[in-house]
Amino acid sequence: MTVRELQDKILKLKKETNTAILAHSYQAREIVEIADYTGDSYKLSVDASKTDADNILFCGVHFMAETAKMLSPEKRVFLANKNAGCPMAEQMDKDLIIPLKEAEPDRTVVAYINTTASLKTVCDVCVTSSSALRIVKALDTDKILFIPDCNLGSWVRAQVPEKDIKLLHGGCPTHAAITAKQVLKAKDEHPDALFLVHPECVPEVVELADYTGSTSGIMEFAKKSDHKEFIIGTETSISEHLQYDCPDKKFYPVTKDIVCRNMKLTTLPDVYNSLLGIDNGDAFEIIMDDELIAQARKCIDEMIRLGG
Ligand code: 13P
Ligand code: SF4
Repeated sequence: MTVRELQDKILKLKKETNTAILAHSYQAREIVEIADYTGDSYKLSVDASKTDADNILFCGVHFMAETAKMLSPEKRVFLANKNAGCPMAEQMDKDLIIPLKEAEPDRTVVAYINTTASLKTVCDVCVTSSSALRIVKALDTDKILFIPDCNLGSWVRAQVPEKDIKLLHGGCPTHAAITAKQVLKAKDEHPDALFLVHPECVPEVVELADYTGSTSGIMEFAKKSDHKEFIIGTETSISEHLQYDCPDKKFYPVTKDIVCRNMKLTTLPDVYNSLLGIDNGDAFEIIMDDELIAQARKCIDEMIRLGG
């Protein structure tokens, strides 16, 4: 069967099962093509709550499907590949954070959305890479514990020096592997290119950027810019999607190795098999009890209240 034939079967089954497919921008092109919604973590969490489909099939990683379930508890939410987790989201748990809160009860805990629902239950407010700066500025407190990503946290802290932002040593292994040396080499090879970077990268890399933002932010910037060449400091799918969307421009990943293995676990056959399995129990459904949803949702609602 060709990719196109499988995509057609998926589109038909999607309609028959009244399922909306949500795909993070780090998914492969062939998956993005059959999705109803694509984008960064924040956009997808909002899209998930807007769809009126009965089912949501998430092509991304586990915490994203959990977030979709929390925002749409009345819908059935499925993850296309049950093994797709985010290593950063697994780095910290409640047992690590509760004693820190007890030691400093006046410090507001700001959690990157890349955290488990269980950890979110003890956090005060959530942020995504596109909302982190805005939310931290909007908080009516100056004492913050920012978890788990110390790179995103450092980027925020550099821009809000008036606040006391404490960081822990968490982060994204895919983005943290990008080095300043690699960026300087790419800049040497493409002297006319702008460097666009995700704030999950280490500070020495972010310092070299012409623009820093979420995956959607990077894509929007590149599409609107009059510039013709860009070095992309995030997962390689973003360079591929941009090259497809803007054939008159040139996109160079810092290196070809910036691949999130977890994001890339999901395949087109996984999407097809998940749709087939929705009604017979074979698809991987996100099951969360009402109490967990109610507790974990508070910090997501607080993010939405503060302006996303
Ligand atoms: P955004 O989608 O918020 O830019 O985050 C990137 C990422 O690493 C998602 O896991
Ligand atoms: Fe997690 Fe990093 Fe992969 Fe995003 S790119 S899912 S933060 S490991």
